Amino acid sequence: MSSENMTLKLKIWRQKDSFEAGKMVDYTITGVSPDMSFLEMIDVLNDDLIRKGDDPVAFDHDCREGICGMCSMFINGEAHGPNRGVTTCQLHMRSFNDGDTIYIEPWRSQGFPVIKDLMVDRGAFDRIIQAGGFISVNTSGRTLDANAIPIAKEDADTAFDAATCIGCGACVATCPNSSAMLFVGAKVSQFALLPQGHPERKERVVNMVKQMDEEGFGNCSNIGACEVQCPKNISIEVIARMNREYFGALVKPEN
Ligand code: SF4
Ligand code: FES
Repeated sequence: MSSENMTLKLKIWRQKDSFEAGKMVDYTITGVSPDMSFLEMIDVLNDDLIRKGDDPVAFDHDCREGICGMCSMFINGEAHGPNRGVTTCQLHMRSFNDGDTIYIEPWRSQGFPVIKDLMVDRGAFDRIIQAGGFISVNTSGRTLDANAIPIAKEDADTAFDAATCIGCGACVATCPNSSAMLFVGAKVSQFALLPQGHPERKERVVNMVKQMDEEGFGNCSNIGACEVQCPKNISIEVIARMNREYFGALVKPEN
């Protein structure tokens, strides 16, 4: 870990669009403060590229505080970089040393085609959510106050833990099968554990799994890399719950 400004060698995946082949391109960056976030370090590189008339590196970002799930990239072969339980925007340059070489690549999965450089299209996740990742509630003014429905503390905590999934796609990118089951399992769990999710419980899991398969994501083979690299520490238990929900819905489809 460094406390002095650093000089780093960056090897960054550059790809013009979804159709052209990409390649790693070398950059050297100087004066990197250990207190910069990883995204701020790329901002500095991009300022320099723009000043020289070069094309800046395209990367996704929005909240820069670990909420939106946009800042998805592989750093030295690890989703969101070397630290656990953080997104790339929460990773700081103090996690690297002066003189380090850092490899920066986009998510690599058939389900997430590269748009440009480090940006990928995660529309497949949106379509999985549209297939069932919601509850249908009449909000006409006669809705029962959620606090009026007693929920066991353990269920509330487990549902909340599942709901912290930010849809970043690190689980897919790090899985050798490109499985999206940690993501879908989290979304199925957050509803299955709460009474509000019960009316559409069975059709939800069947439709979300169907969409997941149609998007070309692979199956889980219990490797466990997804839960290790998930920035929200989503437990692989959500996959077991999703499988139980799914087979239960197939055996007894009516609610
Ligand atoms: S389960 Fe974790 S790694 Fe997968 S999309 Fe959600 S937050 Fe990202
Ligand atoms: S930019 Fe939103 S989680 Fe990183």
